[in-house]
Amino acid sequence: MNYRHQIDYELYEDWHELSDSDIALIDQAYVFCNQAYAPYSNFKVAAVLLLDDGSVVKGNNQENMAYPSGLCAERVALFFAGANFPTKKVKAIYIVAQGELLNAGDLLSPCGGCRQVMLETELRQNTEIKVFLVSQNNKTMVFSSAKDLLPMAFGSI
Ligand code: THU
Repeated sequence: MNYRHQIDYELYEDWHELSDSDIALIDQAYVFCNQAYAPYSNFKVAAVLLLDDGSVVKGNNQENMAYPSGLCAERVALFFAGANFPTKKVKAIYIVAQGELLNAGDLLSPCGGCRQVMLETELRQNTEIKVFLVSQNNKTMVFSSAKDLLPMAFGSI
C-alpha cells in the first residue's frame, strides 16, 4: 500500500499582510533578534511566543564556543515559558531571522530538535500552537499546529 501525508499551511508574500496583532509580534521579534548571541554563525534568530493570557515571551539564539552547548531561539523561548509559566498555554510562535547563513529567499524553518520541543509543548498543554515562519524575503508560512512540522514524530501519533 502507498500512503501520502498532506500538510496544509497558509503562505503570505509578505508578513505585513497578516493581522495587526501578528505584525506587532513579528516587529517585536525582529527587534529581539538584535539581542541574539550569535558570534559564531552571525545568524540571529528570534522566537516570540504569544501565551493564552495575552502575555509575550521572547527568545533568541544563544551560541557557545563549545558549539553544541548553544541553543536555538525557539527552545530558549519555549523552555523559558515552560519554566516560568507552566500553567499558561502557548498560542502561537513567531520565528524570524537575520543573517547570511540562508539566502533571502530560503525558507526559515526550525530544526528538528525545536520541532520536537514545540510538539511536546502542544502535547503538554493539550492545545495546538500556531507557527509563523518568516523568511528574510518577507514570505511567511503559517501552520495551525506544530504537528504539521513534524509528521510521524516520536511519541506523538
Ligand atoms: N537557529 C535558531 O535559533 N533557530 C532555527 O530555527 C535555526 C537555527 C540558530 C542556531 C545557531 O545559533 C544559528 O541559528 C545557526 O544555525
